[in-house]
Amino acid sequence: MPQKQKTSTVHGFILSLVILAFSAVPRPGLATSAPHSEILLSEYIGLAIDTYPKIVDDDVNSAKTIGGGAFIIKNGMLVLASRTGRIHQLNLHGKIVKANYLPSIDLGAQAFKKSTHINYHESLPRLHDITFANDTYYATYDKYNEKIDRIQFELAELKTKTSKWVPLYTSPPIDARYYTLGNGGKMALAPGYIYFSVGDNSLDRKNNLPSDFAAQNPTVPWGKINRINLKSGAFEVYSIGHRNPQGLLATADGSLIASEHGPRGGDELNIIKQSSNYGWPSQSFGTQYDSMIRFGKADAEKQFAIPLYAFIPSIAPTQLIELKGFDINWEGDLLLASLKAQSLYRIKRLADKVLYVEQLMIGKRIRDIKQHGKKIFLLTDDGSFMSITSLGARNLNTQFLTKFPILERCTQCHSFEKSNSLSNAPSLQNIYGRKIGVDNYNNYSTGFRNRQSDIWNEQSLYSFIRDPGSFISGTSMPRLSLTERQAKDVVDALKAIQNTHY
Ligand code: HEC
Repeated sequence: MPQKQKTSTVHGFILSLVILAFSAVPRPGLATSAPHSEILLSEYIGLAIDTYPKIVDDDVNSAKTIGGGAFIIKNGMLVLASRTGRIHQLNLHGKIVKANYLPSIDLGAQAFKKSTHINYHESLPRLHDITFANDTYYATYDKYNEKIDRIQFELAELKTKTSKWVPLYTSPPIDARYYTLGNGGKMALAPGYIYFSVGDNSLDRKNNLPSDFAAQNPTVPWGKINRINLKSGAFEVYSIGHRNPQGLLATADGSLIASEHGPRGGDELNIIKQSSNYGWPSQSFGTQYDSMIRFGKADAEKQFAIPLYAFIPSIAPTQLIELKGFDINWEGDLLLASLKAQSLYRIKRLADKVLYVEQLMIGKRIRDIKQHGKKIFLLTDDGSFMSITSLGARNLNTQFLTKFPILERCTQCHSFEKSNSLSNAPSLQNIYGRKIGVDNYNNYSTGFRNRQSDIWNEQSLYSFIRDPGSFISGTSMPRLSLTERQAKDVVDALKAIQNTHY
């Protein structure tokens, strides 16, 4: 076994940004009813991730309707609006406690299926977002209007008296033939206004359509961030040149930030300013679908508002939140969800500058995200919720080395975190009392595989560390020439840091 460089341990540390099964003792603060926690190690903090069982509801969770939807958290409960317009109340473990908690929104999907005008069925009319403010629920959706055989985008509020959804805004009708993906539809409330994104509905993507350049046409709502004055009800186009903004956030410092799906490549985060033009379809960092040719001229960004950040290749960004009181190390950061990249992105922002972006691999398409106190909830496209809790700063690695410097003899090869496929040696996390040879480590020697029923205790650890080869013949762990005293110190240190994490 060659001497491994210390840097490889450090690398393992960084590369452990993968979700790894978490089998250690239950942590205080984690609900015991949670099915299982996994650990995700970010650069600064450890995260416990719980995945709740799939939502039991034919509508939310049938193969046909899976994906989409949005949620809010109200009175300590999740309120989930499915893509088909039904709204349920769930507990914080993602279990429905009240089906049809709010009146459903009829999107006209049944009638739409019969429309003779549909050329392609890429998408049925969908609900896009739900929010709650000023004692009022608001929802956005596309609705099929059977009478005129057209699709309309609507933003509606729920009238408590009548229990009816009443539109605050209805878009001009769009020909059902052209109705497809790319609808945007996220809302953000700021003093006096409700802002909402409307996608270009792909109108700018198919050259044979009558309404090319929808996003650059200031008289139509598509490809825009729009707003409604909550007092007067007046509608206004706020910014233009958007493609498919699926995330919208009013930040604590009074900014409005939208995430946007670009074409292939070129997804964007934009700080939305009134009357600004964000360039679609004239400019994007993405490429055409039938070639790798970039949209627009190379210097076209000079003519348009430039993104706060662009993702190349694309990640398919959805909703974003601004963290407050989740963990001090992440305070004020943006957390952006994604579909294609199946990740969260932690974005360190200073005013209109992004300082860095950290990708956190979740492994599922994430449709919506909300913070609830010390937890972050995710709605995934496979029809379930996940929650994320901070385990605090990952500083033990240095702490315990200062306290037990003898363990530096081990950290050349071993880590005290979960191992991954790149690990040089099994993890020593909770080694005391652990079965021999049961770590995720891929390269155990044969001797180890034969000893798997034994448990590491004081005696066996001591014997192994003093002379690995005579304890397990053929082991790839080298003899470290530790004195009796040093080996005892190592065992004591391993015992002392038991059950402490990273
Ligand atoms: C040069 C690299 C290296 C160093 C240094 C090293 N080890 Fe190991 N260790 C290994 C490898 C490789 C294995 C896996 C052995 C095998 O598969 O045969 C291992 C296995 C182990 C195991 C068994 C783990 C299990 O999953 O059952 C223990 C315990 C262990 N080492 C403890 C230590 C301690 C304590 C130190 C420091 C005093 C240390 N090692 C230093 C490379 C190293």
